[in-house]
Amino acid sequence: MELTTRERELFEKIDFQRIPCHVAIIMDGNGRWARKRGLPRVAGHRAGVNSLKETIRIADELGVKYLTLYTFSTENWKRPSREVRFLMKLPEEYLSRELEELRAKNVCIKLMGEANGLPEHTRRAVEEAVIKTEENTGLTVNFAMNYGSRDEVIRAVKKISRLVSEGSLKEEDINEDTISAFLYSGGQPDPDLLIRPSGEQRLSNFLLWQLAYTEFWFTSTYWPDFKKEHFLQAVVDFQKRNRRFGGLTK
Ligand code: FPP
Repeated sequence: MELTTRERELFEKIDFQRIPCHVAIIMDGNGRWARKRGLPRVAGHRAGVNSLKETIRIADELGVKYLTLYTFSTENWKRPSREVRFLMKLPEEYLSRELEELRAKNVCIKLMGEANGLPEHTRRAVEEAVIKTEENTGLTVNFAMNYGSRDEVIRAVKKISRLVSEGSLKEEDINEDTISAFLYSGGQPDPDLLIRPSGEQRLSNFLLWQLAYTEFWFTSTYWPDFKKEHFLQAVVDFQKRNRRFGGLTK
């Protein structure tokens, strides 16, 4: 992989024994990036796809095992219909260009969110990518699309209560693992690192359960300007954190 001098410097600081296993990203600031340049907001989303590509490449290169990208929230439907239509076209555009490379790199694509609420063309493109990569054992990329964490928890609670009322699960056996298993992220470890660009410092209904002990990393850089260098810096900073999970440092 081609690296600039700055990227190489950061790369050399990384301890490859302690790469975050799961990184989650709220890809924010596309609209502001575009407006600053006198462009329509959707130009920011298009530019954001390049950052997404670059981020998948560097995460794969570093040996990250799971990358969860917030591409569209259950609240984003409130946006103007033109913007929503544009955002719903991006996954198929992206996948038609990149799927072969992702397959060659052993990347496994997953969809986190309510697939049935997506337009048919978007759902079809993503589901095809999920099926074509399901045997892959490298980096798992979760596209959180039509995703809302509260919605995800409600669904899990409904599924669990159904099992309890059918008698196949006892109330006293419900624990953290039961809840985790019924989330879209079931079977995956919780994120170690959450990255949010654009200067905002909030969760926006993203992975509320899963982020309980995640390290947060913020930058004022807008997502379309987020490059390998930022990802590498986030990992370097993550490795300096003292994670105690509520306990004490050894
Ligand atoms: C938030 O920025 C960003 C989004 C709502 C969309 C993110 C989507 C992508 C980067 C592309 C997804 C593509 C694929 C291939 C799945 P914002 O518009 O809220 O920015 P603002 O806060 O500056 O207005």
